[in-house]
Amino acid sequence: MTREDCIALDARDPLASHCDKFALPADLIYLDGNSLGALPRATRERIDEVIGFEWGEGLIRSWNAARWIDLPRRVGAKIAHLIGAQPHEVICADSTSINLFKVLTTALRLQASRPHALPRERNVILSERANFPTDLYVAQGVIDLLGQGHELKLVDFDEVTAAIDDRTALVMLTHVNYKTGAMHDMPALTSRAHGAGALTVWDLSHSAGAVPVALNAAAADFAVGCGYKYLNGGPGAPAFVFVAGRHLAAIADDRYAQPLAGWLGHRAPFEFATDYEPAASIDRYAVGTPSIIALSALEAGVDTVLAAGIDALRAKSIALTQLFIELVELQCAGLGLALASPRHADRRGSQVCFSHPRAYAVMQALIKRGVIGDFREPDIVRFGFAPLYVSYANAWDAVQALHQVLADREWQRAEFQTRELVT
Ligand SMILES: Cc1ncc(COP(=O)(O)O)c(C=O)c1O
Repeated sequence: MTREDCIALDARDPLASHCDKFALPADLIYLDGNSLGALPRATRERIDEVIGFEWGEGLIRSWNAARWIDLPRRVGAKIAHLIGAQPHEVICADSTSINLFKVLTTALRLQASRPHALPRERNVILSERANFPTDLYVAQGVIDLLGQGHELKLVDFDEVTAAIDDRTALVMLTHVNYKTGAMHDMPALTSRAHGAGALTVWDLSHSAGAVPVALNAAAADFAVGCGYKYLNGGPGAPAFVFVAGRHLAAIADDRYAQPLAGWLGHRAPFEFATDYEPAASIDRYAVGTPSIIALSALEAGVDTVLAAGIDALRAKSIALTQLFIELVELQCAGLGLALASPRHADRRGSQVCFSHPRAYAVMQALIKRGVIGDFREPDIVRFGFAPLYVSYANAWDAVQALHQVLADREWQRAEFQTRELVT
C-alpha cells in the first residue's frame, strides 16, 4: 500500500463528494469525529436563517410558523431512521446523561411491576466496568434516589452475557465502548436479557451515525445517545431518547413515570393546567423548552448522515479503520504502540485506539503536526474515523505523522507534557 494507492481509493470512493459538505480547516486531518463531529457547511446557513429570519423577524410566531414546536419530534424521527426505530419512538431532548436518568427510572419502575420480578430479588443493574462514567454515575444516582435496594453490578466487556441472571433487572450498556471502540452484540445480549426477565438500556452515543443499529429488530427496550459525535450536531447538541413502542403505553401510566415532569411532557402544555397529565406518547420524555438553535444545528448534522446512508458509511468506516490498523502496525512497529481496539471489524465501531506508555504526550505532538485525535486515561490514543469527511489519504498521512512523532521522540518535548483541562 502506498500513498498513491490511497489516493486511488479516494478517487473510487462513492462518499468522496460528501467531504466538501464540511467546513474543515485546510491542512488538518480530523480524527476526532467520535468526540465532536465536524461543522457541516449547511449548518452555518441554517443557523443564519434560524437566527436572522425565524428568530429575528418571526419572533414568537416562529413556534408555529417555522414549526419550532415540532423540532424535537422531527429530528427524533430522522434519528429513528438511523437506529432502526419507528419515528414515534424517538424524541430529541436534554443531554444523554439526563435522558439516561429518565429511562433508567422508568425501566426500574416498569420492572418492579412485573409479576415475575417479585418471587426473587431482582434488583441488579448490570453494566460494564469500562462503561462511560456518566452512565455509571447516573445509575448510582437513580439507585440512591429510588432507595429500593438496587445494586449496580459491573463486569468486564466479555463477561456481560454470563453475568445476566434472574437477579438482573436491567442490562445497561454502551453499544460501542468510548475508549476501545469495542462493539457489543446488541441482538444477542438483548435476547439473553429478555430470556432472563431483564430489560435493556442501550447508550448509542458512539453508534448513531457510525454503525447501523437495529433497535426494534433486536427488540431493545430503551436507548439514549449523543447528538454531537457522528451526528455532527455541534458542541453540546441535544441528545435523543428511544422508548420501544410496546412500552409507550406503560410510560403514560404514572406508576412508571419518568420523574422529570415538565410542561412540555404534559398532554396539552398550552392548557396550562395546574396538575400534570402526561402525554401518552414519547412526548412525555420532553421536559422544558428545547434550544431551537441547537436543535436546528442537530437537524442539519443528521441530514449529512442521512444523505450518505448508514450502510455506505459503515462500509467506508470498516475500510478506513482496517487500513489505519494495518498501516500503523506496519510503519510504527517497535515504537511502543499496541492495538487496544478489536482487530475484527464486526466487533468494533468507527474508532481505533492504541495504547502507548506516553499516550498523552504522543497525542499532543500529533496534534501539533495537524492530526487531531484524543487521549483517554490511562494510556490510550484514540482515532475516530467519520467516513463523511475522512479520506484514505488522510489515514495514510496520519500514520506518517504518527511515525515521525514516535521515531523522532517528538513527544518528549516539554510543551507536550502539560495536561489541559479537556484531553
Ligand atoms: C457513551 C457516552 N455516553 C454519554 C456521554 C456524554 O453524555 P452527555 O452528553 O450527557 O455529557 C458520552 C460522552 O462522550 C459518551 O461517550
